[in-house]
Amino acid sequence: MTNLTQNERSVCLLAIESSCDETSASVLCNGKIRSNCIASQKEHAGFGGVIPEIASRAHMRNIVPIVDEAMQKANVRKDQLDAIAFTSGPGLIGSLLVGASFAKAMALALNIPLISVNHMQAHVLAHFIDDPKPYFPFLCLTVSGGHTQIVYVEDYFEMKIVGQTLDDAAGEAFDKTATLLGLPYPGGPAIDDLAKSGNPFRFSFPEPKIADLNFSFSGLKTAILYFLQKEKNKNPDFIEENRNDLCASAQHSIVIILLNKLLKAAKQFRCNEIAIAGGVSANSYLRKKLAEEAEKNNWHLYIPKTEYCTDNAAMIAMAAYYKFLVNDFVPQTVSPSARMYF
Ligand code: KG4
Ligand code: ZN
Repeated sequence: MTNLTQNERSVCLLAIESSCDETSASVLCNGKIRSNCIASQKEHAGFGGVIPEIASRAHMRNIVPIVDEAMQKANVRKDQLDAIAFTSGPGLIGSLLVGASFAKAMALALNIPLISVNHMQAHVLAHFIDDPKPYFPFLCLTVSGGHTQIVYVEDYFEMKIVGQTLDDAAGEAFDKTATLLGLPYPGGPAIDDLAKSGNPFRFSFPEPKIADLNFSFSGLKTAILYFLQKEKNKNPDFIEENRNDLCASAQHSIVIILLNKLLKAAKQFRCNEIAIAGGVSANSYLRKKLAEEAEKNNWHLYIPKTEYCTDNAAMIAMAAYYKFLVNDFVPQTVSPSARMYF
């Protein structure tokens, strides 16, 4: 990165994300991301899910080197920072505490303000990192490992959840299906990959009948579990022999559940500014199907770059930038929360 110009110098933020199993740091100057460094924890691969205690310890190991790397890549010195931002929730409390404590200590040492950011709002605001940016109001389908939401976004921090999952999140549906198919955690990317050479219509699973804009994925997981048990009784090698078709068919079912609710929301809100965010929005089949619907329904579709879909500190920095502009700071007594709503 080049040296900062006088103009870029006017707002420089360091943001830290540590809500789950990614330790990430990003530097933003005047609304532009200068660095976005991510240490992904491989420690959970064998467990079929994130182990909170292991995650906290890994954040402790990763946070100093990742912040150093982000500052160096951005070519920004500590004394050039105007504020420090951190994810205050929702997430794993031990993991959040590592990021929050680090941010508080650094802000105190540098005598600069502290900005707290809601992780789910940040996923939505990732759309303001690059052009083209959505126009308000827009609908955002936020699909991650812990959440599945349709958010009606009227302004940067005026967001309403109009639909959400009643049980598992879409990412969990991917991860749990992957575990049933003998794939390592996190299973979403593995299913996405294997499904590319599978038939999405080979097996069909029931779509849940949930009224309004809410979602449910636990029935699908159970249907897949019972189906696999039945088939394995007949042929013990059923999964190995059909893995790609199973991945493609399960992925198709998850994506259709998401798409149908998004279509319903777009009609209900008469909105054709449509965005997707969160780790699952990296899914190539979801992106393809969304592009087809956008064409049919005249949607303006906004999909962030993959590195801004999965957990990253750039989205925290972006959200923090809009808070900085209105002096929305928090005191040193702030503490993160595992559960947090808009
Ligand atoms: O937003 P995120 O990185 O972390 C949370 O805040 O949860 O989302 C992680 C989730 C995991 O469940 C992971 O399997 C899923 O996103 N994921 C994917 C893909 N990449 C990540 N799911 C389907 N296809 C992908 N390509
Ligand atoms: Zn996330």
